[in-house]
Amino acid sequence: MSIRFRLLLSFASLVIVSVILFVTAAYLLSVAVTGDFRSISSFYRIHYSLHPLSEEEESIFLDLKYLAKHDPILLQDPERLQSYDMKLKLVQAGLVVRRNDQLVYVSPMLGNSLQASELPAYEMNNYSIRNTMNLGSRFYSYAKFDFSFGADTADRGSIYVLRERSPFAEVIRMVLPILIGIFAAALLITSLLLYRYVTRNIIQPLERLKQSAKHIKEGNLTFALKPESDDEIGQLVMTFEQMRLRLHESIQLQLHYENNRKQLLSNISHDLRTPITTIKGYAEGIRDGVTNTQEKLNRYVGAIHTRATDMEKLVDELLYFSKLDLNKEPYSFQQLELVSFLRHTLDEMAIELDQHNVDVAWNCPSPPEQSIFVMADSEKLRRVIVNLVDNSLKYMVREPKTLTIGVKRGPERAEVWIKDNGPGIKPESLPHIFERFYREEESRDQSAPGYGLGLAIAKGIMEGHGGDISIKSSVGEGTTVFLSLQNFTDHR
Ligand SMILES: Nc1ncnc2c1ncn2[C@@H]1O[C@H](COP(=O)(O)OP(=O)(O)OP(=O)(O)O)[C@@H](O)[C@H]1O
Ligand SMILES: [Mg+2]
Repeated sequence: MSIRFRLLLSFASLVIVSVILFVTAAYLLSVAVTGDFRSISSFYRIHYSLHPLSEEEESIFLDLKYLAKHDPILLQDPERLQSYDMKLKLVQAGLVVRRNDQLVYVSPMLGNSLQASELPAYEMNNYSIRNTMNLGSRFYSYAKFDFSFGADTADRGSIYVLRERSPFAEVIRMVLPILIGIFAAALLITSLLLYRYVTRNIIQPLERLKQSAKHIKEGNLTFALKPESDDEIGQLVMTFEQMRLRLHESIQLQLHYENNRKQLLSNISHDLRTPITTIKGYAEGIRDGVTNTQEKLNRYVGAIHTRATDMEKLVDELLYFSKLDLNKEPYSFQQLELVSFLRHTLDEMAIELDQHNVDVAWNCPSPPEQSIFVMADSEKLRRVIVNLVDNSLKYMVREPKTLTIGVKRGPERAEVWIKDNGPGIKPESLPHIFERFYREEESRDQSAPGYGLGLAIAKGIMEGHGGDISIKSSVGEGTTVFLSLQNFTDHR
C-alpha cells in the first residue's frame, strides 16, 4: 500500500471519526441543555418531526383530545382539568384550556399573566397541532386541539398541552444540521488541504528521491537535487545530494585514475620503445657488418651503452617512484641543519653548475648562529634538491643564468625556495606539473632529456617527510619551487 493511499485512508477515517464524535457530542450537549433524559432516544424524532411532547404528555393530550371531540363539556370541569394538569406536571408540562376569548384553565406553572390573545388563533381544521411559541420571554413547544363546544360552531374551544423549552436548545435544534454540514465541510477541506500539504512536502520530495535513486541505479549521476525545505525531508534530500556528489566525485576520480593508468602504461611503453628501437638498429648494424672500422664499432657500442643507460635510469626512476607511491621506500630520518645541507648539496653539483654557466645566489641565514634544523632523510632530500636544480639547469637557456636558493625559518615550518630565471611554466601546465610522465610540449621539443618523473618523485619524497612542495612560475620570467618541512630548531 503506497504512503499516498495510506494518507488518504487516514484522512478519510479522521473525517468520519470526527463527524461521529461531533454528532455524539452535539447530541449529548443538547440533552444536557434540555435536561430531558427520557427524550434521549427520540431526540431527532421529537425535534425534527415537530413532535413537541413526550410519550406521557402525548397520551394525556390524546385523552384530552378525545374528551374535546366527544364530551367537550367535561373540559369545563376544573377538578378534572386539575387532575390532568397534575399528571402533566409530573412530566414537567402544563395545560391551558380556552373557550372563545376566555381562558378556562391555566396551569399554575405558566403563571397568571397569560392572556387568551397570546395563544395562536383558532384553526378548526387542526392542520397544525404541534408547534412552538413564545409566551412573554419564555419559549414553549406545544400540542393543541381546536374544537367546538356542542353543535354551535361559534362556541369554540382549545386545549393546549405545553412544555417549556430552552430557546438555546431550539436554536441548536435549528442550526444543528447546518452546523454539522459546516463542520463536515470544514473538516473535509482541512483534510484535503492537509493532504495536499503532506503530499507536496513529503510525498513529492520522496517521489523525486525515488526517481533520483533510479537514475543512480542506471549510472546517471549528472543531475542535481535541491532541498525545498529545511525539515527532515529537506535534510534527507540534502544528504542524498551529498551522497550523489560523493559518488559522482569518486567515479570521476576512478575514471581519472584509470586514464592515468592507461597514460602511464602508454608513456612507459613509448619511453622504453624508443631506446629499444635504437639499440636494435645499432645491434643490427653491427650484425650486418656496417661497423667495418674499429672507430665505427666503438661509436655503435657507445650509442647502445648510452641508450641502455637511459633505459636503466628510466626503470630505476620508475621503480623508485612506485616504491614511494606504495610507501615501500624506507625513510631514515635524521636531524639536518638545512642551510649547511643545501650548501653541501649544491657544492656536489658545482661541476654541472659551472658547465651550464649558472651563478648561484644565496638568500638564507648563516649557521651556526641562525641554524635551522629539520628531521629528514638526507639521501632523499638530496634527491629532491638535485631534481629541482637539474630542472633549472635543463630548462634555463637565457644568459645570465641565475639560481637563487632561499631559506626561511618560520615558527612551525622551515621553508626553502629555489628560483631560476628560465623560460617559466605555462599556467595551464602548472596543475599537472607533479603528475608522473607529465612534460610540457616545449620540453619534449627541446629534446631536453627526461621522463617527467623528477617532480613526481620530489613530491612523493616531500610528502613522505610530512612536508610540502609547490611551484610558482611565470612564462618568460622564471620558476620558483617552494619546499616546506617541519622546523625542529626549538625541539633540539
Ligand atoms: N625550472 C623549470 N623551468 C621550466 N620548466 C620546468 C622547470 N621545472 C619543471 N619544468 C617543466 O615541468 C616538466 C616536469 O618536470 P619533471 O622534473 O617532472 O620532468 P622532466 O624534468 O621533464 O624529466 P625528469 O625529471 O624525469 O628527468 C618538465 O618537463 C618541464 O616542462
Ligand atoms: Mg626533471
